Parts: sequence; structure tokens; C-alpha cells
Amino acid sequence: MIDLTYRNLESYNQAKEKAKNNPEAFWSEIAANFHWHKKWDTVLEYNFHKPEVKWFIGGQLNITENCLDRHLETQPDQTAILFEPNNPSEAAQHISYKDLHSRVCRVANMLKANGAKKGDRICIYMPMVPELAIAVLACARIGAIHSVVFAGFSAAALAARINDASCSMLLTADGGYRGDKVTPLKDIADEALKKCPTVNCSIVLKRTGQAISWNTKDVWWHEAIEKADDHCPAEIMDSEDPLFILYTSGSTGKPKGMVHTCGGYMVYTAYSFQNVFQYNKGDIYWCTADIGWITGHSYIVYGPLAVGATTLMFEGVPSYPDFDRFWEVCAKHKVNQFYTAPTAIRALEKHPVALVNKHDLSSLKVLGSVGEPINAEAWHWYDDHVGKNKCPIVDTWWQTETGGILITSLAGVTPQKPTYATLPMPGVQAVLLDNDGNELSGEQEGILAIKHPWPSIARTIWGDHERYKNVYFSAYPGYYFPGDGALRDTEGNYRITGRVDDVVIVSGHNLGTAPIENALDEHENIVESAVVGFPHDIKGNALHAFVIPREPVADNETLIAELRTLVANTIGPIAKPDRIQVVSGLPKTRSGKIMRRILRKLAAGEYDQLGDVSTLLNPEVVEEIKRNS
Ligand code: WTA
Repeated sequence: MIDLTYRNLESYNQAKEKAKNNPEAFWSEIAANFHWHKKWDTVLEYNFHKPEVKWFIGGQLNITENCLDRHLETQPDQTAILFEPNNPSEAAQHISYKDLHSRVCRVANMLKANGAKKGDRICIYMPMVPELAIAVLACARIGAIHSVVFAGFSAAALAARINDASCSMLLTADGGYRGDKVTPLKDIADEALKKCPTVNCSIVLKRTGQAISWNTKDVWWHEAIEKADDHCPAEIMDSEDPLFILYTSGSTGKPKGMVHTCGGYMVYTAYSFQNVFQYNKGDIYWCTADIGWITGHSYIVYGPLAVGATTLMFEGVPSYPDFDRFWEVCAKHKVNQFYTAPTAIRALEKHPVALVNKHDLSSLKVLGSVGEPINAEAWHWYDDHVGKNKCPIVDTWWQTETGGILITSLAGVTPQKPTYATLPMPGVQAVLLDNDGNELSGEQEGILAIKHPWPSIARTIWGDHERYKNVYFSAYPGYYFPGDGALRDTEGNYRITGRVDDVVIVSGHNLGTAPIENALDEHENIVESAVVGFPHDIKGNALHAFVIPREPVADNETLIAELRTLVANTIGPIAKPDRIQVVSGLPKTRSGKIMRRILRKLAAGEYDQLGDVSTLLNPEVVEEIKRNS
């Protein structure tokens, strides 16, 4: 195992000092712990105005050699991936580093045999089975750029992502298990591929054995893999070559394909994984995210494997077969570090605590939270009942764009503070800005920004560098602007207060309201719509859609049902609004701009906080919305 960890406050403080005084020396010392075919010539070049960021320039590597090959010498039999299936009666799988290496190489050869090569984009639309992680690593092995699309997305969303990156290959499965449901992945993929001319091969893993249709470009995974041997030299990549694209929602327009590159991403995910979770050799670490999201990329696959950890991969859901599944799995596999999302905690907190207590959770040492602000109630429930007040909780703030955790405590090393993500990692320079972009000092509330690059910052938006500049570097020139607000206490601890743009985080999923409005507007009887978030007990936020019909309808319920289906088909079931309200108009300014601030207050039922509505073009609709809600 590779050790990059600060184990006490003193060494943490030293690291912080060093990173502040000489970031390049700091990061090059960390990067020296990895296997490079050629060492970098220059540590960092950047310009946030352009914007451009490059790390470890001239360095050559393959991330899979760091995640796999080098561990073969020291710990070939250590479990790399511990797979827990959806159905508890199916056996768990312990895949050693040696086995994982061999399976990745075989899949890499299978990809090559089917035409894949360095630089190609390969879309992966698969359930949470080991082959998903193997597929990701196999792409990296041959230098193909993977684009994993979460297996809950619709055919239209999948097609849009495949086409945006002109993927030449799709890796999918017949179906996927999730709780008591089976997702017909192949059917959805078939539907998507009708609109994807660039895909010339689709490799299908058999997981559920369900009936599927078969097309000329389809290849069975189990047949193709037969012909592939397990020797596959790693493609040598430049540090700044793209490793993957991962789509995230924006406040406007289509999803953004964030591009991460090989060298910096590897260094930062490994460094942050080990420090944040204080991983020790032999520990069993479990992150409950899906590999379809950045958390799964960085903290199920790359970060843990880069340091030689054992990473647990779970196919199922927290509620199946019962609401104690997480705790059952923790006890069964003696999990040491457990990393989940506030929405899961809030959902589980509603069930009798006996469901937690019936399992032996004494192996747990560290708990983690990610994806949205964790409210005090959920934090304390997690601390009391899961951690029994003896496990530090790391509340980790970061984003798809940041590649790795930026603000967090380090488990047991730095102080935690409930509902606060606490301090920036050594090497991360966070600041608070006022609306005019002036840095605030001391205890303040403001806009969170980062003023110096860290190695895993996304380098661009695939095919749209201008948008990358506009979204992240234009609002506050000279800073990276993540789109979140925060407050800071006297000790410098940050508490993230939420998005400051039109992205709503629902159950930890980042949803742009604009694409949902576009989907609603597709309905033949909808003229205009507006979607806002409102606070929700379990999901954190839920969506409230206001829709204006072209013609008043006799039966709103039917219209609402059609709209929900439309959103599910266009984006995916996760984007379905909880509430759809049919209205005759939307509150607008005299220049015709929808007053979202007012809609948010209306959706939250905060009628006394609407402010002055008399300057609106149509103040009467506010009354109507209140009456009909
Ligand atoms: C939010 C997930 C508060 C935030 C890794 C961010 C959080 C967005 C936290 C990114 C946290 C994530 N506390 N808010 N610990 N972690 N967020 O791209 O608004 O899916 O901008 O990445 O989630 O979501 P994404």
C-alpha cells in the first residue's frame, strides 16, 4: 500500500503551511509517490483568466499501472474490490488485485479487438457490478476516454451524452437489479442507439438473463471475452491526456461533459482518499455511491485502488430487502470506513433505530457524508446510532468539476463541527467573496471560490471551452467559482449553504432546472413552465413545477401524469417533479423575466417572505398560485 497520509494534527499543519508557501513543491512531493514512465518537466502552468490549467506537464503514466500493476508486487492477494450483490442470497465476491489486474487486461483486449483505441470515447451504461469498475479501468488501460452514464438515465439522456462526445462504443448490460426492480438497460440503450450514428459496437454484459432484442452491432460480453487474453500492456499517456468525461447538470442548456485528465486526477484522488478517511492497510472501505457519479469514480474506483485499498462495491439500495441493508452489509463485511449521502441518512432515520442496533457495527471507525449539506438532525442520528459517538464524521464538500474532495475534516486528525464541512484540504485555497468579487475576511457569509488550482480540477467542458470559461471563471475573474454559497466561522470552518444558481440538489443528485423546464415545454399543451426547488424532509430538496397550459384542461390530473412521464422519458425518473401545479401565469418582472425568487418562496409556503410583489407585471398570479397550492 502507498501511504500519503498525515496521521496527526502536527503533520497536517505542516503540510498546510508548505502547500501555502510553495504549492508546486508540495504537489510534486506527493506526485513522486506514483509510478511515472517519465517524470514531469513542469509541475504547474495555469491562467484562470484564459482559463487553462495543466499539471505535471510532460509527465507520462498510465493510471491503471498505479491502481493495479504496482500493487501486484506487494499485495497481489489483497482484496481490491469486494462486491456485495443486490440480492443478499447471492454470494459476495472478493476480487484480489491479481484477479482485478487480469480481468481489466482481458476487457482491455476485448475493447481493442472490437475496434477501440486511444483517444476514442466509450460510453458505459451499466449496473453496479464489478464489470462496471473493470470496464472503466479497461478504458483507462488502453487510453480510451470513458464516459459513464448513470444507469437511471432515460434513452434520450443517454443518447444526448453519447452524441455530445461522439462515442464509438457502448458498454451495457441486459438489465440491472436495484432493490425489487429490474431496469431494462438493453431496451433503453437500443432506444438511445437509434439516434447515435457514431456508435459502431455495443458490448452487452449478461447480468439478469432477461429477454432482450439483438442488433447487428451487438456483441455478447461473455463471448467476446473468451477470445481475449490477460496480457495487455498499458498505453502510455501524457499527464494532461483526458482520462474521462462525466456529465453534470448545468443551470441552463444541455449537460456539461466535464473532462478530467490522467496525472492530476490520479494524484489528487489518491491523496484525498487516504487523508480524509485515514485509510490503513487491510481496512474495508465502503462508499455507497454509484459509479455513474463522480463520487463513484473518485472514491470507489480510482482513489482507493491507487493506494491499494479494499473498496466495497454495492449493487443494491438501502431499503432492500429491508431498511437495514446498509447496516447488515457493514456488519457482514466488517466495514471500517463508511461513506454515504445525507439523503440516505435521512431516509433511514425515519425507520426504527432497532434496525441499526440489531447489527454489530463495532468495526466502523470513520463515517463520511457527501453530496449536499447535512442537516444537524441527520448528522446527530448518524453520529449517535451508526457511529455510537466514537467515529469521526467527515463532511466532504466537492463537485464533479473538482474531481476530489476540497473541503472536509480529516477523520480523527482535524476537529469536526456538525453541519460544517470545516477546512480546505492542504493545497486548497478557498475564499469567500461578496457579490462584487471582493475577498471577505473572518466570520462571514458569501460566495465560495477557490483561488489556486489543485491537481484534479476539470480542464474543460468537452467540446465547449467557452462554456467552461463562462460558467466557472467569468463571474469572479481570477477565481474558480463552484456555484455554492457558504458561511465561515471564526476558526475558518466552512459551512456550505447551498447552490447560488438554478441547480437543485434532489437526493444528492444535481439537477438543472432548465432542462426539466425544456422537457415540460415539449408537451403540446404547455406554453411555459418554471421549476424550482423546495425543502424536503428526506430528499433535502424536491422539485416544484409551475406549468401554464395552452388551453385550460378539464382534468389536471391527467395532464400532470403525462408531464411526469415526459420528464422521466426525457431525463430520467430522478428528475420527475414532486409537485406539478397548473397555473394561468408566472410572476414576471416588467422586462418579462420569471421571478424565481418568488416562486421559490411560494413553493416553500413562505408566503410572508414574498417581499414587495407590486412591481411585478402580473401580481395577481401570485394570489392565484397561493389559492391553488
Ligand atoms: C453539493 C458531488 C454541502 C454542492 C460530489 C456541490 C455539498 C454539489 C457537499 C456538487 C457537502 C456536495 N456539503 N453541499 N458536503 N457535497 N455538495 O457534482 O452544492 O454531484 O456544488 O458532486 O453538491 O454535486 P456533484
